[in-house]
Amino acid sequence: MRDVTEATATEAVLRTFAATSDGRLRQVMTSLVTHLHAFVREVEPTEAEWAAAIRFLTETGHMCDDRRQEFILLSDTLGVSTLVELINNRRQPGTTGTSVLGPFFVEHAPPPSDGVSLLRDGTRPTLRVHGRVAAPDGAPVAGAVMDMWQTAPNGLYDVQDPAQPAGNMRARLHTRADGGFDVLTVRPTPYTIPHDGPVGKLLAAAGRHPWRPSHLHVMIDAPGFRRLTTALYFDGDQHLDSDAVFGVKEALVVRPVPAAGGIDEVRFDFTLERAAA
Ligand code: BEZ
Ligand code: FE
Repeated sequence: MRDVTEATATEAVLRTFAATSDGRLRQVMTSLVTHLHAFVREVEPTEAEWAAAIRFLTETGHMCDDRRQEFILLSDTLGVSTLVELINNRRQPGTTGTSVLGPFFVEHAPPPSDGVSLLRDGTRPTLRVHGRVAAPDGAPVAGAVMDMWQTAPNGLYDVQDPAQPAGNMRARLHTRADGGFDVLTVRPTPYTIPHDGPVGKLLAAAGRHPWRPSHLHVMIDAPGFRRLTTALYFDGDQHLDSDAVFGVKEALVVRPVPAAGGIDEVRFDFTLERAAA
């Protein structure tokens, strides 16, 4: 493998992976080298540009700790998280679509306060979200574990904001015998993904904004069904068509309607997909 030239460099590297005994690793590395070399051949980076790219990835790594995962943000903002999620959740027609999990899910959230509310900081509820969780044949899914979480009116999740009580704007509930659920909350607020690091700099350099449209995250788990990780998006939000992380699906956009007591109401029925036997 001497005298590698521009013409033979890709083939030379590919040959070094040809005997990889792990078939999946061989496939991944062959494809990675093929596409990475094609990218470099197309872009023809200068050496200074390549050094800047390495610096960007180094800064991305340095930004990561137990609470901040800048590589996931990079994957999110490049649409790769959504693409991986779509590939792995090719759901049966008629079942509820998935949406990005994001970094703010918390295991073991408390039950709704007073049995009904996501609010724990004294905010007055202005929105009721209710509906039913069902199987594809319409049978109710009783006792499904349902997590919901959203931002407070200041655009922050409880875990980002020491001023909020723990568990504010989130809860874990169980569906009733008829598959029904019913919670009180406020309309979620649009918010920016963390953009004080290299990913934020990249967005700014590209003239992209860091906003996610307002949404209520929902995760539903029930025995015999595939876990559903999704979110409801709110009609009228100015960022619905420019979500920084590409999570919006039309079927997940809800339109609150005015109801009694000055409270808006959203009804949404979730259909779970049966787990493979
Ligand atoms: C979220 O919806 O919570 C989220 C998703 C991706 C990146 C940042 C936040
Ligand atoms: Fe979110």
